[in-house]
Amino acid sequence: MADFDPVTKAVVPAAGLGTRFLPATKATPKEMLPIVDKPAIQYVVEEAASAGLLDVLMVTGKNKRSIEDHFDRAFELEEALEAKGDEHRLSQVREPASLATLHYVRQGEPKGLGHAVLCAKHHVGDHPFACLLGDDLIDHRDHLLRRMIEVRNTFGGSVIALMEVPKESVSLYGVATIEPTDEEDVVRVTDLVEKPPADEAPSNWAIIGRYVIDPTVFEVLEQTPPGRGGEIQLTDALRTLAARGPEEGGPVHGVLFRGRRYDTGDKLDYLRTVVKFAADRQDLAPEFVPWLREFLDEIS
Ligand code: UTP
Repeated sequence: MADFDPVTKAVVPAAGLGTRFLPATKATPKEMLPIVDKPAIQYVVEEAASAGLLDVLMVTGKNKRSIEDHFDRAFELEEALEAKGDEHRLSQVREPASLATLHYVRQGEPKGLGHAVLCAKHHVGDHPFACLLGDDLIDHRDHLLRRMIEVRNTFGGSVIALMEVPKESVSLYGVATIEPTDEEDVVRVTDLVEKPPADEAPSNWAIIGRYVIDPTVFEVLEQTPPGRGGEIQLTDALRTLAARGPEEGGPVHGVLFRGRRYDTGDKLDYLRTVVKFAADRQDLAPEFVPWLREFLDEIS
């Protein structure tokens, strides 16, 4: 195996406007919407930490102060819980601040995911890094990020996560043109297109919110003009890298993900996520699941 620079840092872009979830996201970041009793972004930081990435840079923006507060200590609250002897809640309150070393950078204007990633340039430097979208959850039982880091360590370059979606949904995603490799779950990505119309999509393999990216992406992003929607698209920069050889920051590989993924920035997917997570919780399921069954009978 070639000796590639190890991946140690994670970047979590969380500066988007969250227009799909208005009005809830008018003053509250969508990444802070609770999935049962934890904000979505906490699951994302937990995922980075469990893949061994303990240096996490959040890209935040206007109205995102609550994210910083959530991952900070809360002395008054902690004192009150300590005084009550409520050890369980005390450890829950302390947990977010202990998961990883958190850093923050602000994206002055939400000029797209590519622009948000470019804001990480100074912190990341000349090393490969993982990028995890703050509203995209991967079930903790599916070790996608770890597998992507392994693939980067084997092939170098960048690695994206691909999920098969129905033809009629491809226009919501970046879509990849792919070629098989010797590994069943890994493909070579030869081209990428952002949100193509269904009849022009090169495949059904859509990009989801996990990336392991070569640092040459920064230089490419600096040269990438605004694409679809007037935003600087990460997909466009990765498309450039996909066409390059290893000496110039390429290639791009894809990990074909067949596990559980939840887009909590979408209302319907958010509702599904909350119900699924609640049904998986030992403390809630014994009451919640029978209630859900009864409720479904009632409305059917
Ligand atoms: P989305 O495509 O979900 O866009 O961004 P959005 O603006 O946040 O939400 P909608 O579509 O208006 O509802 C994907 C990820 O990229 C981040 C978002 O926070 C999200 O994690 N992002 C997007 C930024 O950090 N900055 C941007 O300028 C755009």
